[in-house]
Amino acid sequence: MPSAAENTKGKQVSPFHECNTSPLIQLAFSSLISASVKNISTRIAGVGAYTPSRVLTNQEMEKMVDTTHEWITTRTGIQERRIAAPDEATSDLALHAARAAISDAGIDPRQIGLILVATASPDMLFPSTACMLQQKLGLAPVPAFDISAACSGFLYGLQIAHQFICNGTHSHILLVSAEKLSAITNWKDRSTCVLFGDGAGAVVLEATHNSRGVIDILLRADGSYHEILRVPAGGSAMPVTPDVIQQNLQFIQMSGKEVFKLAVTAMQDIVEEILEKNQISPQEIACVIPHQANTRIISALADRLGLPMDRFFLNLHRYGNMSAASIPVALAEAKAEARLHPGDKILFAAFGGGLTWASAIIEW
Ligand code: ACO
Repeated sequence: MPSAAENTKGKQVSPFHECNTSPLIQLAFSSLISASVKNISTRIAGVGAYTPSRVLTNQEMEKMVDTTHEWITTRTGIQERRIAAPDEATSDLALHAARAAISDAGIDPRQIGLILVATASPDMLFPSTACMLQQKLGLAPVPAFDISAACSGFLYGLQIAHQFICNGTHSHILLVSAEKLSAITNWKDRSTCVLFGDGAGAVVLEATHNSRGVIDILLRADGSYHEILRVPAGGSAMPVTPDVIQQNLQFIQMSGKEVFKLAVTAMQDIVEEILEKNQISPQEIACVIPHQANTRIISALADRLGLPMDRFFLNLHRYGNMSAASIPVALAEAKAEARLHPGDKILFAAFGGGLTWASAIIEW
């Protein structure tokens, strides 16, 4: 189907075509738009995080599957993770984080013009978790939709929000990353169940004319690797049936070694690309907030950048891999621990199912 900017013969036509306006009016309108949105950028006005109170330790995992605290810590760095209550859905986790971010930003929730939720473990296939959250926040009829980019979801959401802010559509956007991965984890599969945890992180993004804010965001994906990290069943390709359940296909499946190798290369390459593109040296980065999946992946990134590990903010030992929620939870904790100072350049890097990977640099 041709896009709005194409006619039925596929020829490019002006988006003003349907408005039937003269070229002069079109030109004046474009200038007005670009003047009004000129120099707008996006800043993080508020952050918030929520992790469930139930702590599941490696010692408890030893009683559930054939594993050891030693194996989990040496291979991943994870010591414990949080598990949501049976009656807590992803949108409930999101609600706590969203309220914290709104309060941190000091705005009236009615200023929010768009709600985005990045998640790989939505409440249900549809409606979106963003709509569930919108209802819980009492913010109808603010538009709301989900972003599916697995562990890269927060940075994908940041780019989407940044575009809406830069083009003048919205001045305040709520971006929440929330995961109840415990609901899609096979608790009998030791190769995956020790890795994941539940939690939510949120940011309020605000239009700014100040130079501080988003410097750049890069997004990447390669669907040819979709089989190495996925939840095979539960969608249209493989609806859930008793047979599917018997084979545990409704849970996360991962070829850990393959994901590991690709993650190391993808994160390193995209981080080098964003630094080079923006003429920023690794030494100028005050804090790196990476996706919190595995300490070994993060230390490989530190080595490649020539940065000490204390330049990285890590909390995966306490939460495990919370997929899309990992980065914003770490961001909220880094702020709470006074690790971020005005003017600091902060580097983000993520990778996840898809495969997707992404990086961003902001000035705090
Ligand atoms: N306890 C004890 N032994 C285990 C466990 C466990 N929990 N899990 C696997 N093993 C065994 C394996 O069976 C294997 O035994 P074998 O040699 O007898 O066959 C051995 O340990 C080594 O297994 P590997 O999978 O080769 O271990 P590896 O060193 O690769 O570490 C890990 C596994 C931690 C999963 C690693 O590959 C990894 O971190 N991969 C990346 C995962 C990731 O970052 N995912 C992020 C995206 S998540 C998302 O998008 C939702």
